[in-house]
Amino acid sequence: MCVGAAAVYAAAFEWNRPLFGRIPSPVELTLRDALVTAPFLCWLASSLVAFLVVGLFAIPQGMVGAARRMAARRRVHSSADALASPERRRFLERTAAVAVSAPFVGGVYGLLYGRLNLETTELPIRIGHLPAGFEGFRICQLSDIHIGPFMPASEIRKYVAIANALKPDLTVLTGDFVTFDPSTQQPVVEALSGLRAPFGVFGSLGNHDAWARVEDSITELFRQVGVRILRGTNGEIIAGADSLNLIGVDFQSHRRFGPSAPVDRLLGNIEGVITRDRVNILLSHNPDTFPRAAELGIELSLAGHTHGGQAALEFISPEIAPSRLVTPYVAGLFHKPGGQLYVNRGIGTIGIPIRIGAPPEITLYSLTRG
Ligand SMILES: [Fe+2]
Repeated sequence: MCVGAAAVYAAAFEWNRPLFGRIPSPVELTLRDALVTAPFLCWLASSLVAFLVVGLFAIPQGMVGAARRMAARRRVHSSADALASPERRRFLERTAAVAVSAPFVGGVYGLLYGRLNLETTELPIRIGHLPAGFEGFRICQLSDIHIGPFMPASEIRKYVAIANALKPDLTVLTGDFVTFDPSTQQPVVEALSGLRAPFGVFGSLGNHDAWARVEDSITELFRQVGVRILRGTNGEIIAGADSLNLIGVDFQSHRRFGPSAPVDRLLGNIEGVITRDRVNILLSHNPDTFPRAAELGIELSLAGHTHGGQAALEFISPEIAPSRLVTPYVAGLFHKPGGQLYVNRGIGTIGIPIRIGAPPEITLYSLTRG
């Protein structure tokens, strides 16, 4: 699936190159992207959904039909063929029309509306021994930016303005700044350099930053604009006599994930920077680090990575989201003894630029003692 998505994306980039005799920027939406790539990806998404729908419904229906036909043959006086009934034929025609058009309508919805329909989640986070100096402290989280033709720098700047308007005390970024193209690191850093928060802007890196092999270079670019990327390190957030311990890690998983080697002991590289006398907050792109973080006593983990399923059908059932195949932490707030996790749905997309049932999200946490 990931390889297929990567191939489609690579093909989309290739199509853009010879437009009007120049190489267009991979971080601006071009006419060709709007008129050719977007409809193609929409058609591709629709076809995949239609294929799955047919697989889900037609095969069981065919089996039931075959069983019925066998039973009918046994009857001496079979009734008239139901298909010959005009009402039944009309019903089947309408059903076929809905089955064919619904995926395409869904694709267009996800491309033109679902992908852009930002939700700002405001969430109180209760922490038992939160110092008094951090009561009401506001942390804004953006994740999974994925700069590209369908997340141009101009659009990122709009999200930056929205985040700044929330007046956070601290802003955090939880990775996947780029998708596959290393040349997009400079524009994404420039676009995010407009983030403002009195206690600073911090971040961690995602698996796509590793795939694009920009982990070191984008960390340095961020440093130049005052954004501190935490890579197995911590930063102290000081408010008067009180402080929080903010920790960040690169993408890590028990499984091999692209160039990211599997690790035997999740979060083993930060055990030395976790403090007992202060509240610890972890920025980890991969939400799968949460159980280990809770065991280590990290009070709050902030993650991304899943895009909330990106094309989730959670309005039908919360269990229908592709990301559930790889993680139980798809979106929202989770609790375990020792800690809690929030998984932000991100603002960008990968593969097919649609979002259905998983709108883009900026999260604003308000810390409170409790
Ligand atoms: Fe991502």
